[in-house]
Amino acid sequence: MGAGASLAPPSLFANAPYEGKTSERGEVLTPEEIVTSYNNFYEFGTDKGDPARYAHEMTIEPWTVEVRGKAAKTGKFALEELTKGLAEEERIYRFRCVEAWSMVVPWTGIPMARFLAQFEPEGSAKYVQFTTLHRPSEMRGQRALFSGIDWPYVEGLRLDEAYHPLTLMVTGVYGKPLPNQNGAPLRLMVPWKYGFKSVKSIVKITFTERQPRNTWNILAPQEYGFYANVNPEVDHPRWSQATERRLPSTLFNPNRIPTLPFNGYGEEVAGLYAGMDLRRNY
Ligand code: MTE
Repeated sequence: MGAGASLAPPSLFANAPYEGKTSERGEVLTPEEIVTSYNNFYEFGTDKGDPARYAHEMTIEPWTVEVRGKAAKTGKFALEELTKGLAEEERIYRFRCVEAWSMVVPWTGIPMARFLAQFEPEGSAKYVQFTTLHRPSEMRGQRALFSGIDWPYVEGLRLDEAYHPLTLMVTGVYGKPLPNQNGAPLRLMVPWKYGFKSVKSIVKITFTERQPRNTWNILAPQEYGFYANVNPEVDHPRWSQATERRLPSTLFNPNRIPTLPFNGYGEEVAGLYAGMDLRRNY
């Protein structure tokens, strides 16, 4: 190694191809080590470090997804069957948690419209529900006596939201397969909604006529709705949603930035909510 190389500052990106990559707004990526170590995955505990610490206890091979409800092709499918022939794409998205921190993340995934179309949903299907693995023997948070959550974790979308071109069925991050703590092997990503919508480690997909339940709404309906579109004008009852801490963020450099309506994707998605009162449908 030459003297010049050894003097170079250490790169933030262990993953060299991502050096210098940005979002479409020119935002730098959140370093991979933060994306994979600062997580919410209550099945493994409530501390941000718990998922990275304990999610290796979850077995992800083999992985089966059960498809039910208003669709022509229902049943149990091996993961490989479901992803075969569906091209993956990389999308750099802003990711905004309802807790008011945010990241910029390069996800890999299959556009959800293509993923769901293979099941041929019926005309009466208006919503889709996604369910996380329920396996207390491998998920210590599910064994906890006082978690408050009625497992399994469930989330849902209107079918037109699920079919929007921005919605992804994520299989990877930073050019690698999803680590368990980020929701391996399949998780949802809806970049204009708060992070709790993006349910992890999906084992069941149900097409329904009626709006399905979602875990955080069941837990605290006055705080978390079904839609959960990022909205700086509607505060959480206990904190403001006007700004966010873009990670990395420290006490001395909080890196606080304004939150954008629909997390900055309004041009693409506002039409989905034409005529709706977004204060009531939070
Ligand atoms: N999915 C499950 N099954 N369990 C969870 O606790 N947390 C949600 C979401 N999906 C959660 C989940 C929340 S609150 C957020 S912010 C994101 O996952 C965090 O995703 P990340 O850890 O990949 O950043």
